[in-house]
Amino acid sequence: MLEAANIRKKFGGLVAVDGVDLEIGNGEIVGLIGPNGAGKTTLFNTITGVLEPEQETEITFNGEDIVALGTHEIARAGLLRTFQIVRVFGEMSVFENAVAGALFGTEESISQEEAEDRAREALAFVGLEDKADMQAENLPIAQQKQLELARAVASEPDLVLLDEIASGLTPGEIEELSDTIRRLRDELGISVFWIEHIMDAIMGTADRIIVLKSGEKIAEGTPEEIRNDQVVTEAYLGAEDES
Ligand SMILES: Nc1ncnc2c1ncn2[C@@H]1O[C@H](COP(=O)(O)OP(=O)(O)O)[C@@H](O)[C@H]1O
Ligand SMILES: [Mg+2]
Repeated sequence: MLEAANIRKKFGGLVAVDGVDLEIGNGEIVGLIGPNGAGKTTLFNTITGVLEPEQETEITFNGEDIVALGTHEIARAGLLRTFQIVRVFGEMSVFENAVAGALFGTEESISQEEAEDRAREALAFVGLEDKADMQAENLPIAQQKQLELARAVASEPDLVLLDEIASGLTPGEIEELSDTIRRLRDELGISVFWIEHIMDAIMGTADRIIVLKSGEKIAEGTPEEIRNDQVVTEAYLGAEDES
């Protein structure tokens, strides 16, 4: 579904993402972990058209070259994301945010009524249906992240990229969110690429984990393999030493 070769992104002299190859298949939940500053968010930004990657970067989605496309076109092709720093339309209601998601990311033009139906379903899916009439900025941050997810779901994507969607949640809420992410795949057939620093959540949910450090992919494997990987353990210890 998503195939990328040699993703690179520089900021001046800093190579934030340094030649990453990756693939996300149909129906997969793939985790992306790595120390702070590893380049995880930048990787998402280059895939979703928020940032323009270096020239050698190749990214295809469902067979289509998406490197030169903007965020909106990529969304309409079926690839949606949430942001580490939450971005909801604060002055709009929760429901209006979800409707906007349905309208933004959907390829065929749909009626207002259809968009509202999809919005209602998406809010129910993440468990926000009771909050539909609230002003979005009045939700706690954790629920604003759920709303971002609902907004993505409302446009019926093939793949969603989640950037630290579990941070700030209680252990019980993390459990629920992990369940929601599994249901995304199992019930809606949506593939997931998920950045998370909460290890238990991602290790318990992902089929496969990719580890970044200093912009490079240093390991890839099942959660079990990653947990026992010496290189990964050292990467995290090294990162702690530096801070
Ligand atoms: N817009 C930007 N301009 C300059 N440097 C950036 C920008 N965004 C990120 N960086 C730098 O790129 C590196 C990777 O950052 P980021 O992708 O946010 O890491 P992560 O999400 O893994 O914590 C860091 O050194 C960060 O300071
Ligand atoms: Mg980040």
